[in-house]
Amino acid sequence: MTDSSRLDEALAAAPAAVSGAATLAELDAVEKALLGDTSAIGEARRSMGSLDPADRPRVGAQLNTATKEIQGLLASRLSELEAQDEDRRLQDERIDVTLESITLQSGSLHLLQQTMNDIVDIFVSLGYQVATGPEAELAWYNFDALNTPPTHPSRLESDTMYLDFGDPADEVLLRTHTSPVQARWMEANDPPVYIVVPGKTYRLDTVDATHLPVFHQIEGLAVDENITFSDLKGTLAHWAREFFGPKTKVRFRPHFFPFTEPSAELDVSCFACDGGEPTCRVCKGAGWLEMMGCGVVDPNVLEAVGYDPAEVSGFAFGMGVERPAMVRHGINSIRHFVDNDLRFLRQF
Ligand code: DAH
Repeated sequence: MTDSSRLDEALAAAPAAVSGAATLAELDAVEKALLGDTSAIGEARRSMGSLDPADRPRVGAQLNTATKEIQGLLASRLSELEAQDEDRRLQDERIDVTLESITLQSGSLHLLQQTMNDIVDIFVSLGYQVATGPEAELAWYNFDALNTPPTHPSRLESDTMYLDFGDPADEVLLRTHTSPVQARWMEANDPPVYIVVPGKTYRLDTVDATHLPVFHQIEGLAVDENITFSDLKGTLAHWAREFFGPKTKVRFRPHFFPFTEPSAELDVSCFACDGGEPTCRVCKGAGWLEMMGCGVVDPNVLEAVGYDPAEVSGFAFGMGVERPAMVRHGINSIRHFVDNDLRFLRQF
């Protein structure tokens, strides 16, 4: 026989039991106590089979109503507890968005890097490729392959920083110019060649307003069929107008470099006074600014890398980076580039 008063009792006690559950775990336990196998409802469910068939519908309906009512209580307590849980987590994991953040200062490219990029871009837009080479270089590439004999004064230890000095065949040095990349590139690539080579270079110079032992150069090399000095002039005049402005004029003064013949130094007209101010602070009244060495590639250089001077010819040039940056921005000492003073660096 189902004890319906036990059921009524259980039902009457249910609301307090359910609302007394303070956590999800407690609510689980309450659910077991109210609906589990050993609960009044569980027992009633089990004894249904032994009931008089005539009583079954009534008792069954009672049981169902009681079960549903308790389930309803459990469900609403469950959503209350879940909501509380959520509130607590929101509280605990709250981020104070009003706290001041750490502002990261973004840096910028060093003026020398910007200048190299500007110069390289001018040649890249003419179809040149960018090449690089090692700063610790074999004397062979730095001198011999460039038609510079062992007796040349620039090879002295007083001018060049050697990492390994003695036998010219395997001397290693800090490259004194970017020109060795000419030879390295031509050894590894067939003509035509149109490259620019930005990079660091080293010489045993004492630091003063215009010299640092570490500085930068950009080399250029064009080798193709029928390249002449006119191609060199046109290309470098274009570079000068792009870099210093459309009114810039160029002039070539005869010079000597072992790896070019004929060789020249290129001057650009002073962009500050247009070449006409005796008191100009940029050109000191000279009207011209010395920019780079250049020339027609010596056939010996082409032969040293396995090119046939009867088939191809070329021109080359090498310019410093510090100097054009200084004249363009009115910088009076090369030392500013390496002082790392933010008041200087931030201006660019
Ligand atoms: N390498 C030379 C220097 O550092 C500059 C130079 C002159 C490079 C003539 C060249 C060139 O490619 O053709 O003084």
